[in-house]
Amino acid sequence: MPNIPFVDLKSQYRSIKPEIDAAIQSVLNDTAFVGGKYVEAFEQAFAGKYGVKHCITCANGTDAIYISLKAAGIGPGDEVITAANTFIATSEAISQTGARPVFVDIDEFYHLDPDRLEEKITPRTKAVIPVHLYGQPAALDRIKAVCDRHHLPMIEDCAQSHFATFNGQKTGTFGLAGTFSFYPGKNLGAYGDGGAIITNDDDFARRARLFANHGSQKKYIHEIEGINSRLDGLQAAILSVKLKYIDDWNKARYQHALKLNQLLSDIPQIKCPKIRPGCSHIFHIYCIRIPEREKLIDYLKAQGIATNIHYPYALPFAPAYAHLKHKPEDFPVAYEQQSQILSLPMYPELTEEQIEYISDSLHKFYSNRV
Ligand SMILES: Cc1ncc(COP(=O)(O)O)c(C=O)c1O
Repeated sequence: MPNIPFVDLKSQYRSIKPEIDAAIQSVLNDTAFVGGKYVEAFEQAFAGKYGVKHCITCANGTDAIYISLKAAGIGPGDEVITAANTFIATSEAISQTGARPVFVDIDEFYHLDPDRLEEKITPRTKAVIPVHLYGQPAALDRIKAVCDRHHLPMIEDCAQSHFATFNGQKTGTFGLAGTFSFYPGKNLGAYGDGGAIITNDDDFARRARLFANHGSQKKYIHEIEGINSRLDGLQAAILSVKLKYIDDWNKARYQHALKLNQLLSDIPQIKCPKIRPGCSHIFHIYCIRIPEREKLIDYLKAQGIATNIHYPYALPFAPAYAHLKHKPEDFPVAYEQQSQILSLPMYPELTEEQIEYISDSLHKFYSNRV
């Protein structure tokens, strides 16, 4: 029986092994473990590929959001708006600054609904964080228009959207800053934790770099209290190698997703992912919606197909936010979808046979039940 993992990092490593091994060996030879030329080279390459002035690397994608919020001056008493369906890192980073996360229900593409954004803005609102969930851009034009009208900085959470575009422009370049995670399973993943912030704002960049590095630009001269959040040399060297392949990998995911959408289109119970007009979707996650999710999960598992749920609770209903006492009718779309969403395997190295096997298994499950 085939065994289709949810992601296949081993295949990817095998496909670029000589380059990765050489990059790791160089870092070891140079003992450039923290900071130094490998981190600088990656920051330059990443900023260059995004066409922005600054890339500030850090320890992970959660810190990237936290550092950005601190650099934007967010703190206790403030409110920061984000989407109801995102990974908890987004709202954790908001709370970490002392501000309060305010959730907005989602649209049909699983993103912060621009129609429901304005009603959440209060005099305490100090920033908005759209999340480009699953690998495609949120409604950036409309969200940005609301932010601009209210003079609010927009910080894009691009942890799942490396190089996805909205009307031809890369996500992460629309607002004050874009934040990234290089967690191994991400489209651009390190071999450990890593994160980055991109921006064109010189002053913001200076403050972000300062805060991420113990508040110091010069060693032992601490202008403010900061934190220690660094990308290490090994991860930077690995990411520099992988950066050369990201466009091809993103394209491969997109082709796999189109193929799955086509193969599954005759199963009425399955709602396949839709692509927002004018956007490129990099399919970090291939998320379908179905009734009776648990039975399908068990069936696919028995067929050797791994699945996942992103995420079992929309954040307003997560135990961590029970104290906010949100009701289903506060976030009707996110509430309805949280029990229906299911993520199927998705990675560049998926083969035609694997895609067909996934499709055949889903067809068998539903044909037996009709
Ligand atoms: C949407 C989103 N934001 C933020 C993060 C946080 O990234 P990290 O795990 O690198 O801290 C993730 C990672 O899973 C994510 O998916």
